[in-house]
Amino acid sequence: MSNFYYPKKEMFKDPQFSSMDEYRAVVEDFNEDYEGTWAQLANAKIDWFKPFTKILNEDEAPFYKWFEDGELNVAYQCIDRHLKDKKNKAAIIFEGDNGDQEVITYRELAYKVSQTANMFKDNFNIKKGDRVVIYMPMIPQAAIVMLACAKIGAIHSVVFGGFSAEALRDRIIDASAKLVVTADGAFRKGKPYMLKPVVDEALKVGCESVQKVCVIERNNEDIHWEPNRDYSYNELIKSQSSFCKSEHMNAEDPLFLLYTSGSTGKPKGVQHSSAGYILWAQLTMEWVFDIKDNDTFWCTADVGWITGHTYIVYGPLAAGATTVMFEGVPTFPDAGRCWKMVEEYRINQFYTAPTAIRLLHKMGANEPKKYDLSSLRILGTVGEPIDPPAWKWYYEVVGNSNCSIVDTYWQTETGGHMISPLPAATPIKPACATFALPGIEAKVIETDGTLTPTGEKGFMCITKPWPSMIRTIWNDPERFKKSYFGDCKVNGKPVYFTGDGAMVDEDGYITITGRTDDVINVSGHRMGTAEVEAAIKKHDNVAAVAVVGKPHDIKGEGIFAYVVLKSDDGIADELEIIKEINTMIKTEIGAIALCDDVAFVPDLPKTRSGKIMRRILRSIAKNEPITQDISTLEDPTIVAKIEAIINS
Ligand code: WTA
Repeated sequence: MSNFYYPKKEMFKDPQFSSMDEYRAVVEDFNEDYEGTWAQLANAKIDWFKPFTKILNEDEAPFYKWFEDGELNVAYQCIDRHLKDKKNKAAIIFEGDNGDQEVITYRELAYKVSQTANMFKDNFNIKKGDRVVIYMPMIPQAAIVMLACAKIGAIHSVVFGGFSAEALRDRIIDASAKLVVTADGAFRKGKPYMLKPVVDEALKVGCESVQKVCVIERNNEDIHWEPNRDYSYNELIKSQSSFCKSEHMNAEDPLFLLYTSGSTGKPKGVQHSSAGYILWAQLTMEWVFDIKDNDTFWCTADVGWITGHTYIVYGPLAAGATTVMFEGVPTFPDAGRCWKMVEEYRINQFYTAPTAIRLLHKMGANEPKKYDLSSLRILGTVGEPIDPPAWKWYYEVVGNSNCSIVDTYWQTETGGHMISPLPAATPIKPACATFALPGIEAKVIETDGTLTPTGEKGFMCITKPWPSMIRTIWNDPERFKKSYFGDCKVNGKPVYFTGDGAMVDEDGYITITGRTDDVINVSGHRMGTAEVEAAIKKHDNVAAVAVVGKPHDIKGEGIFAYVVLKSDDGIADELEIIKEINTMIKTEIGAIALCDDVAFVPDLPKTRSGKIMRRILRSIAKNEPITQDISTLEDPTIVAKIEAIINS
């Protein structure tokens, strides 16, 4: 059939799955013996300190436990065990914003992680179970610090460097972090930028749990040093020994927290396990990215997001691969930066977000042709649905119609890929995530568990527990149950609901249709509309606000805010207020949540019980006809008034 793109077999040597029959065979293994197949994989892939005897414990569902009596150490799995046969292999290749390069071998990574782990124990009294907040740029020390935490059993919580002091503070307080690790700053687009002042600001209020701040010197700009609180990583590391024993961790001990947005309230601390998480991170590197010993793998995400955790740090290193870390941005010094790096490092797998693909397409459609990209075998996308034109450019121009595109669907909560093509096996349809990976029971269903008919939109659910799934929300197990296991049931039993809609076509292919809740996806970043609204409401002159997503050429979705003012003194003031609202957002969340559109409206469409009808606002923002029944609104005339304002 013409709409399929078949993998180029000659691009793959000995792939894990070379045909759909092989895929179906492993799916069949799972169907026959779900737990047994997982156990086999866990035994084969993980270097256990103490083997597990129990596979899956469902007694306290949905608080599932996997391999619960096994013991391991994730840093050992990612580094030490490779020292036997890969000690001189590049583990991390780093390229700085200004082109500076550093190669860290597995041997060097082992001693740097050990030194850092020893520093955490000796200088900062960090013990198993303590929380360490990491607020860092994209430099190798970010990975080293994460792994040092894993080595001694501390739980890290990486906070994306683009978040504001307020957002950082909320996360520090929620996790009661004992240590914050940061950098003075780093470089972006040829200029230094700062991080440490944001930490100083965050720690001004309410962060009593924080005892010490460890500062990595990267850009060497002047910073404030707080006596008895702030310490230089670069100084302390000098006296640390290069061996540190790996703490024996239980399979279910938390490896990390990562805060992500939900449809209501504050961001939630997604808690991941040690064994289940690392097993799936490693397996998906092998299955989806077909990682081979001589490959160089580049994921362009930031370590502050789950993609950076699983596919820059944990997955590639657990698989013994070479992972690339890049400090800069894809458009500096020009839109050929990524392709230049692909050429120079002979990248084999390139993994990025549709928003970056759209941007690079727009800014330099012919740039890839200037470079030798023949090393590429697999191109990946993640974070949001990719649109067919972007897909086509990625396939034809970047991949020279030779590479398989893996459109990987997953979430912070799933730990690793859930739905994705297998690069040497799956015939691909553009912009389609295709099939659930073996071991993952992904179904598009109605809330009562019945399968949604072919071609119709339903709820994307994972109907069986899987090893790398979220274990709970830090400090809030009730919210965990409600957020993920409250909406859909199969045979009366709650199943994991992703929050996304999806559709299965006549060939059984799954397409993700986007969020069904009040979460928007801006440049592949998940944002709760409630969070943005809370920030805007802090403005003195704002009486009410509703935020929705609106399609955006580059970002996928942009932020559209409908604002009701307490007093409206004319247009000049409104422009001033838009500026102030955006300053508010920068302070409360960070620049990633800035509004693309702000519309001042007399009121919001509300039901008689006071619920804001966001669907109507979404339709207006998209300039779509309103199909909802508006007669039940408290004031049905408000819809026409808002439309008139938007169209004026
Ligand atoms: C969306 C990122 C369509 C989805 C790994 C999900 C996608 C949210 C895809 C998770 C994809 C992720 N196609 N949509 N291939 N991948 N999403 O937690 O809405 O930052 O729920 O994890 O991104 O975002 P998160």
